Amino acid sequence: MDKSFDALLKLENQFNFLLRFANDIIFLMDAEGNILEANDVSVQTYGWSLEELLSRNIRDLQENAAPVPGCKPVDAGGLFETRHTRRDGSTFPVEVSTRLFKHEGQTYQQSIVRDITPREKMQRRLARDAKRFEGLLKLNEAATEMPEKEFMQFGLEWVETLTGSKIAFIHFVNDDQESIELVAWSKATREKYCTAGYDNHYPASQAGIWADSLRQRQSLIFNDYANYSDKRGLPEGHSALNRLISVPVVEGEKVRVILGVGNKETDYDSEDVEIARLFGNDMWRIIRRQRLEAELTANLEQQRALNKKLEEAQSHLLQSEKMASLGQLSAGVAHELNNPIGFVYSNMGTLEVYLNDIFSINSAYEALEQESAANSPALEHVHQLKRTVDYDYIKQDIFQLMSQSKDGLARMRKIVQDLKDFSHVGEEGWQWSDLHKGLDSTLNIVWNELKYKCQIVKEYGTIPQVYCMASQINQVFMNLLVNAGQAIQNSGVITIRTGVEQDSVWIEIADTGKGMTPEQMKHIFEPFYTTKPVGEGTGLGLSLSYGIIQKHNGRIEVKSEIGRGTVMRIWLPEASVARASA
Ligand SMILES: Nc1ncnc2c1ncn2[C@@H]1O[C@H](COP(=O)(O)OP(=O)(O)OP(=O)(O)O)[C@@H](O)[C@H]1O
Ligand SMILES: [Mg+2]
Repeated sequence: MDKSFDALLKLENQFNFLLRFANDIIFLMDAEGNILEANDVSVQTYGWSLEELLSRNIRDLQENAAPVPGCKPVDAGGLFETRHTRRDGSTFPVEVSTRLFKHEGQTYQQSIVRDITPREKMQRRLARDAKRFEGLLKLNEAATEMPEKEFMQFGLEWVETLTGSKIAFIHFVNDDQESIELVAWSKATREKYCTAGYDNHYPASQAGIWADSLRQRQSLIFNDYANYSDKRGLPEGHSALNRLISVPVVEGEKVRVILGVGNKETDYDSEDVEIARLFGNDMWRIIRRQRLEAELTANLEQQRALNKKLEEAQSHLLQSEKMASLGQLSAGVAHELNNPIGFVYSNMGTLEVYLNDIFSINSAYEALEQESAANSPALEHVHQLKRTVDYDYIKQDIFQLMSQSKDGLARMRKIVQDLKDFSHVGEEGWQWSDLHKGLDSTLNIVWNELKYKCQIVKEYGTIPQVYCMASQINQVFMNLLVNAGQAIQNSGVITIRTGVEQDSVWIEIADTGKGMTPEQMKHIFEPFYTTKPVGEGTGLGLSLSYGIIQKHNGRIEVKSEIGRGTVMRIWLPEASVARASA
């Protein structure tokens, strides 16, 4: 009997220990939630004495005494989370595990309540970290999509959200470390807090406490701005500031950026500083990289443009050197040929007169032949000779030969003259002239050659008069027009356009002819380069034109495509350069 009593006592003690020393709060309640029993932890946790607790209903402990949504602790058991209130009014998060049971016809409720403040803190922290990583990730993504200022604003808005601030701004610190420049602030700052202008440099010494982080080279927290003694005031248009964090971004030896956030509802702590620093550093790193990349791209572009110019200059130089030496050569050849061609031409004239004389003497002899009846052997010999050499044919052919030779010589003379023009373009005849008039008169001259297969379209712009050697410019027009006509095989269009750009006038002659290969284009300005059949082209037209245009300090551009046609564009300076060299 004693033994069993002892055993019962022991059992009761054990149950008591179980209840008293449990880590969690344990309540026993009736069906209405009135607390019938509570353990020691509950007394420590809620701040009520055991008696006070036992006179309360479990709902009295819940924050706002509100029923927990979705949970009926009286009717059913379950596991849920809610918040409980301590005696001093403070609240804390709890996880409640509750169960109903019946004993001797009565319904009871037992609840184990666990304070989950550490877990909730951890969860909050995790959520905050996740948000912070999301922010950093977005920041890196935004970098490629936004211009610098927009990007800074974007970053600031993240810092603002993550730190629960209402103001966020960025200053750049100049190389001298003495002046700073407000470069961006968040949307909320601009809309609600500050209308002060930005983008202007001002000395750090005039800046408020936000520049203290530059002066002290460390992150600073001001949770009581109002009572801070050395605040140096706010810029005009700035509304009240109550809390502030200022963070310097240091690179090498220098502070590059000051990032500030302000006006959080509660005090700032080291975690907020960490966020501001993290974002400040990342933003500066990205900005630096973007700026460097932009600089590199710009440099590359510049380099490319420079290379292109160099190539152009080189090929231009090559071309003019070639033309210069060809010019000299042709000048020499022309000079040497000029004399012999001259005297051969004049000899031909004399020769023709002589031949006429000789043939008239011969005719007189032939009359004598008719009159002489005798069949002399000498006369017979003459007849014999005439038959052998086909005298009648000679008599008729010799003048044809003479005229053909004279034609040939005339052509040679023309070539020599062209060569001379090419190598030494005359310098007389500079005048202000209307190029449209020149084009029209040249068209009239070449019209005969063009009329059967070419349609002429004129697209004249408004151009000023040009100071030039008009007759030579006309010669260029003629060469280009004839070439265009010759490039058109059966029928096509020649379009003549003119225009002005800056101080230069351009004249364009475009044809829908057979076009040229790139290889051909390389040679067209060389004298005697021709693809035309013998007799049709001498290959001097363009080299001559080139010389003339160069003399005018202009240039010729060629665009051509096989089967589609050619565009030749002449650029002439309106006056200044040409006049200077006149
Ligand atoms: N509009 C054009 N379309 C196609 N090829 C052209 C054109 N203009 C010039 N060429 C090419 O350039 C070559 C050189 O032209 P250039 O005017 O110097 O000589 P040419 O016309 O052959 O002879 P020339 O003008 O002395 O009578 C031509 O033979 C032709 O191959
Ligand atoms: Mg030609």
